Amino acid sequence: MKKIIKNGTIATAADTYQADILIENEKIAMIGKDLPTEGAEIIDAKGAYIFPGGIDPHTHLDMPFGGTTTKDDYETGTIAAAYGGTTTIIDFCLTEKGVPLKKAIETWHEKANEKAAIDYGFHLMISEINDDVLAELPSIIDNEGISSFKVFMAYKNVFQADDATLYRTLLQAKELGALVMVHAENGDVIDYLTKQALAEGNTDPIYHALTRPPELEGEATGRAAILTEMANGQLYVVHVTCEDAVEKITEARNKGVDIWGETCPQYLVLDQSYLEKPHFEGSKYVWSPPLREKKNQEVLWNALKMGQLQTIGSDQCSFDFKGQKELGREDFTKIPNGGPTIEDRMSILFSEGVMKERITLNQFVDMTSTRAAKLFGLFPKKGTIAVGSDADIVIFDPKVERAISAETHHMAVDYNAFEGMEITGEPVSVLSRGQFVIKDKQFVGEAGKGQFLKRAKYNAALKPDTGKRLPV
Ligand code: URP
Ligand code: ZN
Ligand code: ZN
Repeated sequence: MKKIIKNGTIATAADTYQADILIENEKIAMIGKDLPTEGAEIIDAKGAYIFPGGIDPHTHLDMPFGGTTTKDDYETGTIAAAYGGTTTIIDFCLTEKGVPLKKAIETWHEKANEKAAIDYGFHLMISEINDDVLAELPSIIDNEGISSFKVFMAYKNVFQADDATLYRTLLQAKELGALVMVHAENGDVIDYLTKQALAEGNTDPIYHALTRPPELEGEATGRAAILTEMANGQLYVVHVTCEDAVEKITEARNKGVDIWGETCPQYLVLDQSYLEKPHFEGSKYVWSPPLREKKNQEVLWNALKMGQLQTIGSDQCSFDFKGQKELGREDFTKIPNGGPTIEDRMSILFSEGVMKERITLNQFVDMTSTRAAKLFGLFPKKGTIAVGSDADIVIFDPKVERAISAETHHMAVDYNAFEGMEITGEPVSVLSRGQFVIKDKQFVGEAGKGQFLKRAKYNAALKPDTGKRLPV
């Protein structure tokens, strides 16, 4: 059945205007004033913004980590994402050395099949480059539709790859048309500092932050940028937290290096002091890289505004406080890293960003949806409101005031990292390919309805503009 959304204000990455949207066969069929309503279900969006469905380019659902597995799986995670206005996620498929990459992809499909309530794609972790991996990569891009590879520069003896692997991944990705993503922290020095902290009897959560200082994120970011420049490659730095890293990305972009930066809501609104909360509550705020000193928040907001960072990922990676975070009561290195953020990613950015005039409404759409669609080969199917695009649409009430709480969130996890935070704005209804998944703030979708997205190759034409112009 056809649907028409009327009386709303459409906001894309470029424009804000009033028009009706006609939805037919999962797609946006027409946009215009006073479209004929005959035979269509009418959706009244008076007083609401209409955004393209959010694209979360950084999630970890049903992921094993530190001897446990994330609390949210593809079902609870994607339903919570939908409540928050996200209609597409790109999740990280972990791989194991010596095991065919295709096997890892199969495992990730099994996790998502019949569970995902919204559309999804995968990034693929690369931890080694050898003849077998080199032989598999072209088909992973062309046949599996996975056009982004993730390299960890930290988590020594777990996920960490060496610099030669990063460099060779950059070279391969350039040749094949994939975007390389890095977790940029200096894992070797972190390993030394954590061992030293434990030897000195320093076991509390705050030592997680103190053993991973911002200098080590800046150093790794700078190293990755230089390797990208040498490879003439393309790089996306995930979860940027601090000035040290922003400086390195900005410096490289100014030189014309094809490098992009993502930050996450937690780094914009929480800070290192949260790790010092009593009764082991600090463990709820253990992310890698860690929360930073408060002064970094304004640096990140400014970098978003100025285009030095371009996207907002949630880095959803949730563990219960009880029984999971508690694994590290006696030793901070055993606290599983990560937190629940998939549901509140867009609302926090709207409330703290748009409402507080740190970014514009159109920048908000770009950061939470459009830019990720462009970088990860989904545009214009996803990431915009245009004729022919998938009807992934968020009807957003910009006025409602509420407090974030684990009591009302839809993630499976037993706490909310933003507990009590007062925010303005909330998705009212959300459509995925023309079907309601959230209607009047209730989930009406179905687990398993989400489709796997085979993504296009990286579009090298996106390369940053250095700002240099021919002399006139
Ligand atoms: O603490 C975090 N970020 N956990 C998820 C894994 C990662 O490094 O992205
Ligand atoms: Zn990471
Ligand atoms: Zn992550």
